[in-house]
Amino acid sequence: MRSKIVAGNWKMNKNLSETKALLSELLEKLPKTEAKVIVAPTYVNLESAARILQSSDIKVAAQNMHFAKSGAYTGEISADMLLNINVDTVIIGHSERRAYFGETDDLLAKKVEAALANNMQVIFCFGEELEERKSGNHFNVVESQLKNGLFNLPAEAWQHIVLAYEPVWAIGTGETASPEQAQEMHAFIRKTITEAYDTSIANEVSILYGGSVKPSNAQEIFSKPDVDGGLIGGAALVADDFIAIIKAI
Ligand code: PGA
Repeated sequence: MRSKIVAGNWKMNKNLSETKALLSELLEKLPKTEAKVIVAPTYVNLESAARILQSSDIKVAAQNMHFAKSGAYTGEISADMLLNINVDTVIIGHSERRAYFGETDDLLAKKVEAALANNMQVIFCFGEELEERKSGNHFNVVESQLKNGLFNLPAEAWQHIVLAYEPVWAIGTGETASPEQAQEMHAFIRKTITEAYDTSIANEVSILYGGSVKPSNAQEIFSKPDVDGGLIGGAALVADDFIAIIKAI
């Protein structure tokens, strides 16, 4: 079901003590909100985070997972390992995974399939690079990322998917897509899903914007009709900023 979501992707930041400190500050300051609030700490702190947040309104997500059930995949973690510590949500396809760890559309499709087979919720990330936008190719790129990563899914799987459009040129750069650029792409994403499936799936899926969202620009971006919230990186590491972004929704 389409809902408002603010998710914090902590990336490779915050050790265990810092994780606990940030979570307790968030718990103390979290306003009443209809938005779903999610945080994604690093693997080693997921179990603690899940325990600390278990009776709260903040959900925990993993930043990645492997597609296999178990086995000889040094350094990787499985869906079962996440579920066993009460983490049932996973970010898949973040641009940093694609760019620095060589994750391809095919691999991401396998990960999505594995997560869904385990009844997990997926936050699927995609977005174009600067050159692709400059050359006017951004719609094609986004369409092909969606098609290759997700369009093999049966219609009923879409209730477990949240989309995060994150133009790579806006991630961690301080440069944000304008609210109009975000709205334009989000509307295009719904149109693409309508063509591949139908309007009800396109209208029911939550589409987050990600890329340098901060307290000063969140409200304007979130006010756009096809933007259902944000995937927040840097600003999610500072409790007051993350709270301000939650308030903006
Ligand atoms: P940023 O990161 O907010 O620091 O740009 C967003 C993301 O990578 O999800």
